[in-house]
Amino acid sequence: TGAITMDPGYKNSGSCMSDITFLDGEEGILRYRGYAIEDLAEKAGFLEVSYLVIFGELPTKAQLEQFENDIRKYTLVNEEMKNIIDGFPKTAHPMGVLSSLTSALTAFNPKVVNVENEKEMYDAVCKTMGKFLVIATWTYRKMMGYPLNYYDNTKGYVENFLHLMFELPTGPYKTNPVVIDALDKLFILHADHEQNCSTSTVRMVGSSHAGLFASISAGVSALWGPLHGGANQAVLEMLEAIQKDGGDSAKYMAKAKDKDDPFRLMGFGHRVYKNFDPRARIIKKAADEVLKNLGVDDPILRIAKELEEAALVDDYFVSRKLYPNVDFYSGIIYRALGIPTDMFTVMFAIGRLPGWIAQWKEMRVNKEPIGRPRQIYTGHPLRDFKPMDKR
Ligand code: CMC
Repeated sequence: TGAITMDPGYKNSGSCMSDITFLDGEEGILRYRGYAIEDLAEKAGFLEVSYLVIFGELPTKAQLEQFENDIRKYTLVNEEMKNIIDGFPKTAHPMGVLSSLTSALTAFNPKVVNVENEKEMYDAVCKTMGKFLVIATWTYRKMMGYPLNYYDNTKGYVENFLHLMFELPTGPYKTNPVVIDALDKLFILHADHEQNCSTSTVRMVGSSHAGLFASISAGVSALWGPLHGGANQAVLEMLEAIQKDGGDSAKYMAKAKDKDDPFRLMGFGHRVYKNFDPRARIIKKAADEVLKNLGVDDPILRIAKELEEAALVDDYFVSRKLYPNVDFYSGIIYRALGIPTDMFTVMFAIGRLPGWIAQWKEMRVNKEPIGRPRQIYTGHPLRDFKPMDKR
């Protein structure tokens, strides 16, 4: 064991070389392919950023149109997938359904399992972008008991998300540009975040040469946990609990600081950001704007701001460098857009998809070795086998 370095949680271990995302946790800097997250969130659209993250350069107008067309070609999901959805109870969590459906896609798309050349890689990328969006919204339709919708070729990708989610047989869903803009921004802010838990999972699974859908399905499962993407749902549930409890945020601050209480202030703290999370800054501003534009006055926003203000001057949080992260304010926007809490982590997954694809692609292109960490064994030394009647 002498040669093995222990680093539980990989706090100080690099697992790969990557050209995709630059992150400086001390300075609060996040860039995709060299472009500042602030610029991308303000000036670009989600598919444009997806193209950048996956292929390395901002697309020209023609390239973006081509990409959007190619994705559109693959938005039809095999009808047999509907039988699989039918088999789930309505009460199933959308993230569990999404992970299973993504995995099920391998059965219908064998070429995404064995990508052998650049053309197959490009098709796999477009297929994944197209089909994942549709099945992600189907998890919501299932939960609500609504009939499933199909991609509308006359609408853009983000607008299609709204159509797929909310259009009912009783009448067309009217999209509001404020909502599309807000979603575009949220998806962009989630698009990649270097070697986080779900992305490392995607790369690890893919390193055995498992296909893109199988790897992404594993990434969805990793994202689900409340310490990772599941935090956005947990934040809103926490804010609602505080509201029900008479708005006493001080009580929850005390619980979070109590080392005998497992409760953590959800949406606070980050493995890498130690001064602020640049995504949280952009989202906080967006939350204010979206709520104002939609004319929503949500008391939960007030509670969130109170908690943030209290934590920023509290010794416990300050000394541990715990600041609001991306998940702290995103749920408030989702809620204002009419997206139910159980769907919040699915929203994160839709946003993170280009990052997972880009990282999987990079791992395959760079011919990375299979991921296989070592351990230090702490169990019994050699023991004599005991027959059953002697145990
Ligand atoms: N509330 C109260 N205490 C906290 C919190 C929190 N949210 N986060 C960390 N701490 C304390 C922790 O108890 C520890 O204290 P001590 O040194 O006294 O033992 C110290 O701060 C360091 O925490 P850690 O758990 O060792 O740090 P980590 O890098 O392993 O964990 C984290 C990072 C994000 C998992 C953690 O901060 C956390 O659980 N936050 C709440 C969940 C959350 O918001 N997750 C979303 C992360 S950002 C987006 C994403 O990845 O999806």
